[in-house]
Amino acid sequence: MNNEEIKKKLVLALDVEEIDEAKKLVDELGEYIGTFKVGLQLFCGYGLEIINYIKEKNSNFFLDVKLHDIPNTVEKASYNIIKNGANFFNVHATGGIEMMRSAKKGALEAAQKYNKQAPLILAVTILTSINENILEKELLNKNSVENMVLQLAKNAKEAGLDGVVASAHELKIIKKELGEDFIVLTPGIRPLWSSKNDQKRIATPSSAINDGADYIVLGRAITKSEDKIEAIKKVYEEIKEL
Ligand code: C5P
Repeated sequence: MNNEEIKKKLVLALDVEEIDEAKKLVDELGEYIGTFKVGLQLFCGYGLEIINYIKEKNSNFFLDVKLHDIPNTVEKASYNIIKNGANFFNVHATGGIEMMRSAKKGALEAAQKYNKQAPLILAVTILTSINENILEKELLNKNSVENMVLQLAKNAKEAGLDGVVASAHELKIIKKELGEDFIVLTPGIRPLWSSKNDQKRIATPSSAINDGADYIVLGRAITKSEDKIEAIKKVYEEIKEL
């Protein structure tokens, strides 16, 4: 895999408290990272300021806001997300097929009106913080997590979304059941030399990509490294072997 192909697959989670820290990461790592992920923490703190900063640097950004509301609200929010320049964003598949279709409708409308590239919309299936015990006891749902993930991924595909966010452990089955073209973005990535932190279902960058991940999310493995450039270069070396 060449450097350009690797860069395209790498998403960096900007999970930091202060906007200056986020800006520094964008400056330092923009050369190596295809897409910066702005999550709720940063978005609720600094909104469009960080988004505009990433755009100024000509980097892509993924707005990880996991929309979940009535279809009309999700449609209008999706419209504004694309209007404000996101390349991709996500919604909760548990919001239902109609809600997911509305997200796509709003996003496409804004892309056409503002002459933007086709938006990429991913669905979150079951959060990794939800286990079978919570499904059964709190949500009165006796299905296995795997069945739920697959069903919700099917719903996302039916609604016309581009793919899902899924752990490396679900990658192969999702690709098998939903097709190679159905995009999978995989968090919980840990190179062998890095710490697991609180992540349970982890994979190395090369094994996730080998199993079919279209995008991998790098977070603390890079952002908490003493030498971030050296850390990202090691990730490149690992993937290059594939
Ligand atoms: O630092 P770390 O690599 O654990 O960061 C992973 C990123 O991916 C975080 O932004 C986290 O919110 C996100 N994520 C995740 N697991 C999911 C969905 C998203 O870790 N199931």
